[in-house]
Amino acid sequence: MKRRQFLKSTVATGAGLIILPSGTLSGANSAGNKLNVALIGTWGRGEAHFDTIAKENVVALCDVDENHLAYGAKKFPKAKHYVDWRKCLDQKDLDAVICCTTDQTHGFIANWTLNRDLHCYMEKPLAHTVEETRIVRANYLSKKHKLATQVGTQRHAKPNFERVRELVKDGAIGELTDCYAWGNRQIRRKRYPPAQGTPPNTLHYDLWIGPAPFHPYNPEYFKGGPGMNCLSWNMYWDYGTGQVGDMGSHTIDLVWNAIDAGLPTTAEGEGEKFNPEVTPVELHTSFDIPANDWRGPVRVHWYQGGMMPRSPKGYVDLNKIGHGAMFKGTRGYVVCDYDSRIVLPFGDDADMTYYNKRSKDEVIPPLGHFQGEWVEACKGDLKTHCDFEYGGNAIEMMHLGLVAYRVGKKLNYDGASGRVTNSAEANALLSREYRSGWTIDG
Ligand SMILES: NC(=O)c1ccc[n+]([C@@H]2O[C@H](COP(=O)([O-])OP(=O)(O)OC[C@H]3O[C@@H](n4cnc5c(N)ncnc54)[C@H](O)[C@@H]3O)[C@@H](O)[C@H]2O)c1
Repeated sequence: MKRRQFLKSTVATGAGLIILPSGTLSGANSAGNKLNVALIGTWGRGEAHFDTIAKENVVALCDVDENHLAYGAKKFPKAKHYVDWRKCLDQKDLDAVICCTTDQTHGFIANWTLNRDLHCYMEKPLAHTVEETRIVRANYLSKKHKLATQVGTQRHAKPNFERVRELVKDGAIGELTDCYAWGNRQIRRKRYPPAQGTPPNTLHYDLWIGPAPFHPYNPEYFKGGPGMNCLSWNMYWDYGTGQVGDMGSHTIDLVWNAIDAGLPTTAEGEGEKFNPEVTPVELHTSFDIPANDWRGPVRVHWYQGGMMPRSPKGYVDLNKIGHGAMFKGTRGYVVCDYDSRIVLPFGDDADMTYYNKRSKDEVIPPLGHFQGEWVEACKGDLKTHCDFEYGGNAIEMMHLGLVAYRVGKKLNYDGASGRVTNSAEANALLSREYRSGWTIDG
């Protein structure tokens, strides 16, 4: 039995049901039942995973910055070291990979990881373009019977996500018609930073650039504190998608979790004047999402950078919710942030007697620890809340919105083929060109 199959069987069946090799115990935390994990990106967001993976075997660390690699090595002294994630992924004893690198490398690292039959936790956003998202999701779907994945939208574990879902799905606001999510973060830049100085010897700058077009070194890209340095590069088109991939990943998740959506059939976008170097701060994108078995078709909107949906009532100031969501139904609104919600019934018929509140034992159970869910899934039933299908669909829609914004017209989208049916210009923007020597399918 291969090592990974063994890990899975021991948890799935429990001790005594299968004959265990001598010296190996069953149970999630026993010595013989640990995952061999590679952590790619060992500082910043990477540190948010330290405690979870400290309970496993961290066998490989990879970072383009040798100082950051040394930082990870203090916590995990037994792991092998890499500066190039392609070499790291070829280490033979790996079971699972956690990746916390720049956004533009995510689709690559996810796809290479899946190609090696390794479980994958990918920090948000899952990928950089519509096409990359589709490649990663398709790869995952072909292997979901043997691999566990999770997109790093850890706020999903907050109980309010399910409370909002229950209200919307159970009809507290009647038939759902419109969903809105927004974020108010504004980081303005005019252009890529100009060449300045040379990279320190400890930084493998060419590997940091990776598959993206080359821009000269400037310390500006590296000036942020731990876990915040993404705000030093994620607004530049070649390295990130601005707030779409950043807080957008987290906040659209409040909507996505409540509506059981597939891919949109249309996309529209408006916002500040297009800048070919820097992603927009002000942006409003919107989508038609088809009906499913419990609701009719809905419109989904994403707003950022000061653009906002209209408040349902003057006394509700949506601007006081930095990152939030709102659901409109035929009988009222739900307004929420990550942690709390309000219900605003409206109209003559809004006495809420139409709404059958769940009993305590029907309430959706808590997810528990978000990273822990993925670790257990790797060893067990492979199920996570934000797998690459769920998270992939959400970010594909968000990326498509950016394409609609760039093209400046309403796009019709065929989710089955991943093509826009009314704009060749838009189709050209669903993907990006890679620097020579880099392939997403390695
Ligand atoms: N889930 C969350 O709440 C959350 C919070 C912060 C950041 N993030 C995500 O985590 C990622 C990293 O963000 P950050 O602020 O830590 O950024 P960062 O620039 O500090 O990068 C994190 C680490 O990855 C290393 N790195 C960068 N590119 C690499 C590569 N190609 N190969 C190996 N190592 C590489 C860096 O040297 C650094 O040590 C981003 O994608 C961001 O969206 C998620």
